Amino acid sequence: MKFQSQRIAYLFFATSLLLLPLQLVFGFIMGIAHMGWDGLHEWIPFNAARSTHLNLLVLWLLSGFMGAAYFIIPEEADRELWSPPLAIVQWASLVVVAVTALIGFQFGWWEGRKFLEIPRPLDYLVVANILLFLLNLVVTAWNAKRFTATGSVLLLGLTSAALLYLPGMITFENQVFDSYFRWWVVHLWVEGVWELIMGAMLAYLLIKLTGLDREVIEKWLYVIVGFTFLSGILGTGHHYYYIGTPGYWLWIGGIFGALEPLAFLGMALYALTMARRAGRDHPNRIALFWTVGCGVMSFVGAGFLGFAHTLPQVNLWTHGTIVTAMHGHMAFWGAYAMIVLGIITYTMPLMTGRKLYGGWVPELAFWTSNIGMIGMTGAFAVAGITQVYLERRMGMDFLQAQKAVQVHFGGVVLAASLLTFGIALFVWNFVQYGLPNVEAVGADEIGGAAETA
Ligand code: HEM
Ligand code: HEM
Ligand SMILES: [Fe+2]
Repeated sequence: MKFQSQRIAYLFFATSLLLLPLQLVFGFIMGIAHMGWDGLHEWIPFNAARSTHLNLLVLWLLSGFMGAAYFIIPEEADRELWSPPLAIVQWASLVVVAVTALIGFQFGWWEGRKFLEIPRPLDYLVVANILLFLLNLVVTAWNAKRFTATGSVLLLGLTSAALLYLPGMITFENQVFDSYFRWWVVHLWVEGVWELIMGAMLAYLLIKLTGLDREVIEKWLYVIVGFTFLSGILGTGHHYYYIGTPGYWLWIGGIFGALEPLAFLGMALYALTMARRAGRDHPNRIALFWTVGCGVMSFVGAGFLGFAHTLPQVNLWTHGTIVTAMHGHMAFWGAYAMIVLGIITYTMPLMTGRKLYGGWVPELAFWTSNIGMIGMTGAFAVAGITQVYLERRMGMDFLQAQKAVQVHFGGVVLAASLLTFGIALFVWNFVQYGLPNVEAVGADEIGGAAETA
């Protein structure tokens, strides 16, 4: 770690790793309810569990992105963060907004639009929070003598993500308009500007872990940014098929949605090629696992499984079924969860000065969580395809079809237990590292032996 202020990232990473296990708890509540045991319904109805599960996901990922930015931007700008106290205030206010929203959901204080459930008054606080965050980073970059492409793409992604939160705050009486603009947030986040954040984090990690020339890695980053915009913007059309919008969206969404996997394929090949060409063996091997794993799993979850239902002929049948949940899980995991867990794995030894990346704990965490997620995705797929067949093709009643797929949720819960075991090991490893310390500033990244976790 080069600068003292980079340690602020720790606060955000610790917050992420508190929220992630809580997200899993709500996942289990829903998984078990889907098995037919909805005993908690009176206290935690499905809608409350679902919105809590999704918002916890978005919150822990955002907190992870923020931590990553507080670590990466000072380094790319080659100077301390403009205002560390402001960053701490921003972190504290993020926690207050998050806790208020999550408690509110349990008491029915929500907006009822998937992913955008946070009630309007809290939305304004979210905006104020993000402005504080961006201000600190933009001033840091502005004051720099020289600023890198990686840093610029990261800032561009974060700023666009903030701007794209706004369309979700407009009020419409009409359901079609409401849905139309909800997708500007949801789709243009995960298949647009968040990809820039992910691409920049991938580039940063690859530069650090492979020792390859920054110029080579950053050149490919531009190519990926290009692909993302080319397909992702009009790809929004794959959500406009049957919601009351004009028919031309069938063509636009069909064609551009089908092109979207290219950006993810590019990202996978990029990570794999750079790792193979690595000029040195970085001792933090497991951080490279998460980095390359992110490229590969995001291609499978977002690119391949996204393609599986993006064509209008297919989406006609699969829309809003468990097939969507199958894709949603692996895509979010591969692209965004893995990159956040990757940056945490890479930065913890640098912030604490301890090298706990050797041994079986971090490695088993990586493999069990990934195999667990692959298993869950498979179980969701079987349940989803069965649901589509029974309910949409055969015309079976919705609830009857849900009963027929209960057994597959046994598979979801089993695989989710393996995922949870992996996450528990990851969190344990994080706790063992302890707090960041000032002695770690300026310490050599490569030298010294690894300790066993
Ligand atoms: C990392 C990137 C991605 C993530 C995190 C992601 C996640 C999700 C999530 C959570 C949903 C459900 C949204 C909702 O109903 O509110 C969804 C829907 C969808 N995604 Fe993705 N996705 C990604 C990339 C892709 C790509 C590249 C494609 C196309 C190739 C795609 C195709 C679709 C389609 C067609 C739907 C609509 C499903 C329906 O009609 O119910 N996704 N995605
Ligand atoms: C203990 C582990 C987990 C379990 C048991 C679980 C279970 C579930 C269930 C049952 C649903 C609701 C499906 C429905 O609407 O009927 C759901 C939704 C969702 N979960 Fe999880 N989940 C877990 C972990 C995760 C993780 C780690 C992620 C992301 C990395 C994630 C992302 C999502 C998303 C994006 C949705 C919404 C899907 C959609 O829009 O259809 N979950 N989860
Ligand atoms: Fe989309």
